[in-house]
Amino acid sequence: MAVPYNQRTYYCGQLRKEHIGQTVILDGWVHSWRDHGGMVFIDLRDRAGLVQLKFDPQTDPEAHKTARSLRSEYVVAIRGDVVARPAEMVNPKIPSGQVEVLVREVDILSKSETVPFEVADDVEVGEDTRLRYRYIDLRRPVMQHCLMTRHKMIHMMREYFDKQGFVDVETPVLTKSTPEGARDYLVPSRVVPGSFFALPQSPQLFKQILMVAGLDRYYQIVKCFRDEDLRADRQPEFTQLDVEMSFVQRENVMQIIEDLMAIIMKEICGFEIPRPIPLISYDDAMRDYGVDRPDLRYDMKLYDVSDLAGATEFKVFTQSLAGKDAQVKVICLPGGGDMSRKDIEALSTEIQTFGAGGLPNCKVTADEKGCAVLTTGMAKFVPPVVAQEIIKRIGAKVGDMLYFAADRKDKVAKYLGWLRTALAERRGLIPKDTYKFCWVVDFPMFEYDEQEKRYVAVHHPFTSPRDEDLAMLDSNPGAAKAKAYDIVLNGTELGGGSIRIHRSDVQSKVFRLLGINDEDARLRFGFLLDALGYGTPPHGGIALGVDRMVMLLLGRQSIRDVIAFPKTQKATCLMTNAPSVVDDKQLQELSIRTVAPAK
Ligand code: AMO
Repeated sequence: MAVPYNQRTYYCGQLRKEHIGQTVILDGWVHSWRDHGGMVFIDLRDRAGLVQLKFDPQTDPEAHKTARSLRSEYVVAIRGDVVARPAEMVNPKIPSGQVEVLVREVDILSKSETVPFEVADDVEVGEDTRLRYRYIDLRRPVMQHCLMTRHKMIHMMREYFDKQGFVDVETPVLTKSTPEGARDYLVPSRVVPGSFFALPQSPQLFKQILMVAGLDRYYQIVKCFRDEDLRADRQPEFTQLDVEMSFVQRENVMQIIEDLMAIIMKEICGFEIPRPIPLISYDDAMRDYGVDRPDLRYDMKLYDVSDLAGATEFKVFTQSLAGKDAQVKVICLPGGGDMSRKDIEALSTEIQTFGAGGLPNCKVTADEKGCAVLTTGMAKFVPPVVAQEIIKRIGAKVGDMLYFAADRKDKVAKYLGWLRTALAERRGLIPKDTYKFCWVVDFPMFEYDEQEKRYVAVHHPFTSPRDEDLAMLDSNPGAAKAKAYDIVLNGTELGGGSIRIHRSDVQSKVFRLLGINDEDARLRFGFLLDALGYGTPPHGGIALGVDRMVMLLLGRQSIRDVIAFPKTQKATCLMTNAPSVVDDKQLQELSIRTVAPAK
């Protein structure tokens, strides 16, 4: 009689001492296989883990015979008795390690080809192979854990927002471009030849319109699409936890998110986040860390020493300082005095790829009296009094290494911001299992794009200026600050949001500043401008990157590990081979003719 696989009694990984004596039905994959002088042992695996099966030729010759034909990754159903393992066979490494199942019947439900790689956590295999055979990759316990944690986190989010009175509303996927700073993925319309839908970069405008519609509190766990350069923490298709609220100021949005993060961190990482989450202004973050998403797990701040650098005889400093908006800053690497000349040169070569001219440096050593002095590198150009001032300002100690950058302010931030992270990672200065959150606030409204010779929005064009900066939109838009906020975790931007513009006259003005003329604005965002004119509550919101959040909570290096079917760095799917060419007939129907890209 066949084993009724649909009447499974437990998952394999659930069996424990208390199940001893029970007859069970299990379904799963053959994980490993051992023939111990007649007795066959098999580890059977399912999503809950492993259990050992034992096949005895004396008691169950039929089952034993089948067991000898089993191979890795065959799918089987078994019926058997849970028994205690002999003391010397107990395996403390697996939760079911105190028991085994003496198999009475076994059915092969499906055979397997030889798998391209072993189903094990620590398997050495290239990512391309993992992505091509994602169904095998996802069998690995570590990957199952990632997907289950993701599920658990999303479930907690839904429960939380439901309790807080938020309404989950689905917004369209076939829509019009919503600018979030990336290229759109376009979908041709068959019915309106030559016209295209854009896949949403975010549901930004729909959620604002839901506020105009009186929904008051909206959330959605939603797919967004952005055609942009991919990195470890970016995918072309990713998931946001998207939130919008009416009649709020930034504190209200922050409060909602802080409470949610506290629950998630506690439940998933067992970590109590210190509340309130600290607030850092954009200007301070750029000044102290050179980035707008500072990693607060370690110190190594950037110090401005422009005044002292001007008093040195170091030409790189004095010449740079003559330029507009110039600055000299320094970063102190604790204990970095042990870095070899070769390592320093390698670092200098690397920083030059970002545009830096070099990497001026020196060491902090002790003089004959044991006092800290600057030596090596550019130290010979620094008069002793100036050196003492530098050491004092940054609190450097004997044995430390100093790295300088001299250039335009934004470039100095870029070089040293990169260097700070690179040094912390490479020198193992980042404490493990620590989660440091911060809010970054008071971003500028606009950034001047040198290439396009116009302002671009630092967040998106629907972000409100601070009330006190409203007049600046006419007089000095570059200095206006936005009611925007980002939540940052361990140096990664987890989410961003803002209080929105809820007046159509202000919105039109911002469009004009961004180089979108009235006609263009009407064409692209007429529906929003219209909606704003029909009674709009003040509103604001935020979106958090769900993939990034799971990645950070699980300490993974890439968001590809926490997405079931991710795309490669080239935005392709190696399993399905998407994107792919389509039939001429399909193109014809869509009135599309393709042109091969120039070689
Ligand atoms: P923003 O563009 O900052 O804001 O996006 C919010 C968060 O989404 C995540 N994210 C990504 N994750 C993976 N891959 C990507 N390509 C990617 N791009 C963004 C990040 C980011 O912090 N509409 C606004 C939100 C608002 O104003 O309410 C928006 O989308 O974690």
